[in-house]
Amino acid sequence: MKILFVASEAHPLIKTGGLADVAGSLSSALAGQGQDVRLLIPNYQAIGPRTDIRYLGSLRIDNRNINLLETRIAETGVTAWLIDYPAYYNYPGNPYLDASGEPWANNAERFALFCKVAVAVAMNRVKQNWQPDIVHCNDWQSGLVPALLSLEPEAKPATVFTIHNLAYQGVFPPETLTSLGLPVELWHPEGLEFHDQLSFMKGGLVYADAITTVSPTYAQEIQTEAFGCGLEGLLSHRQADLVGILNGIDEGQWDPHTDPHIAQAFDASTLALKQANKAALQQQFGLPIDDTLPVFALISRLVEQKGIDLVIACLPDMMALPMQFVLLGDGNKTFISQLQSLAADYPERFALRIGYNEKLAHQIEAGADVFLMPSRFEPCGLNQMYSQRYGTLPLVRNTGGLADTVVDALPQTLADHTATGFVFSEANPGPLLEAIKRALTVYSMPKAWQTMQVQAMGKDFSWQRSAAEYWQVYCRVTS
Ligand code: ADP
Ligand code: GLC
Repeated sequence: MKILFVASEAHPLIKTGGLADVAGSLSSALAGQGQDVRLLIPNYQAIGPRTDIRYLGSLRIDNRNINLLETRIAETGVTAWLIDYPAYYNYPGNPYLDASGEPWANNAERFALFCKVAVAVAMNRVKQNWQPDIVHCNDWQSGLVPALLSLEPEAKPATVFTIHNLAYQGVFPPETLTSLGLPVELWHPEGLEFHDQLSFMKGGLVYADAITTVSPTYAQEIQTEAFGCGLEGLLSHRQADLVGILNGIDEGQWDPHTDPHIAQAFDASTLALKQANKAALQQQFGLPIDDTLPVFALISRLVEQKGIDLVIACLPDMMALPMQFVLLGDGNKTFISQLQSLAADYPERFALRIGYNEKLAHQIEAGADVFLMPSRFEPCGLNQMYSQRYGTLPLVRNTGGLADTVVDALPQTLADHTATGFVFSEANPGPLLEAIKRALTVYSMPKAWQTMQVQAMGKDFSWQRSAAEYWQVYCRVTS
């Protein structure tokens, strides 16, 4: 099958979060299964110059000249088509946010153009003699693609829309419809209109032939008021076309046995070697090198979704317990200043790195003992899976993909050796602290801890199964 994979970020070209990991590794898994995949993404400045760039052709859309460039991602072997329109994409920094953390003022224009180019490619208008069978769109930035394709009179590809995060919807003032030159027939409550605003997300949810999201539990949650962000009615209505497919992970990149970023390679049979990574981590973060204290870690966008406020509320109590804590992240300025002041209060216990650092993320996974993900909601989450691979036991809230991938340490699961982490339910500091104390109790029993590590490291989070599930969805919408 020919698959056009439309995503606003893809690792290793450009990454702000899990979408990039998934776009990079799922496209690669599909290509590995023999599919003919093209990844379509904007040519952001951060992608940087590439040696193998090939000019494919140009397009004229809305009186703008857009170039399409081709590059091959060496790490995955996938061909990417880059949309080159410097006025929209050649900015420094983040694809979505300006230097002060606000969405770029012209995001509607930037991503509408992205969608229109995707439609042109989907309709084989770029003269590449390549028309996809499937257009696989991801998140709101690509939401207009299914909507616009629905209006194409000629033979067109089937569409799949994947929700990675329903909380970001791409909602703009109503006049945006005309300023973007979108067809008025899309403007109605069963179309792109959302409470008198223009919703890119609805373009995907209403018009795609199939909708997927990134875990079975999140697929259920988003049909409820608590998680549906106002779209639960529409999602329940489309229940028959909605499926939750758990993300896989790139097991080549996240493998403690071969990871080039870490101090000491190890695997489940040489777990004792993990200790060298812990010492390296403590040293790097300027914490006392002490093997007896468990190192808790967190790597995240610092936003409310991730339960950072719960961690901040718990931190003074955590610091009274025998543990160290390292945190790598960037985002909300208030969270950052609260965390900085706590780091100053507990220099021997808590160390903070603000910023984005892929290498350090690997070193943290390798060196830590416990990985915190107290998310208020989590469509899938990747770090709890990376953590398990590195024998770093995740401590998570019982939501979305976290609920689907972590087995809580309870008397029964400890006894039958299925436990791989710690799970709490209520999104409050008290229950988080209780779970941390439970983790410390098990940590004080080295045999039980090791059994959990080995169980966690043996879990299969590869793309094999999930890519096959996407394949079934593709077959369904094209049959
Ligand atoms: P989300 O996509 O909601 O941010 P995920 O758990 O799906 O959450 O994916 C987050 C990805 O981004 C992971 O690969 C994680 O390691 C990475 N990440 C997040 N923040 C940072 C950071 N500050 N430095 C390095 N990697 C980060
Ligand atoms: C989103 C979600 C995260 C998910 C990622 C990849 O950013 O917040 O839970 O893992 O997308 O699907």
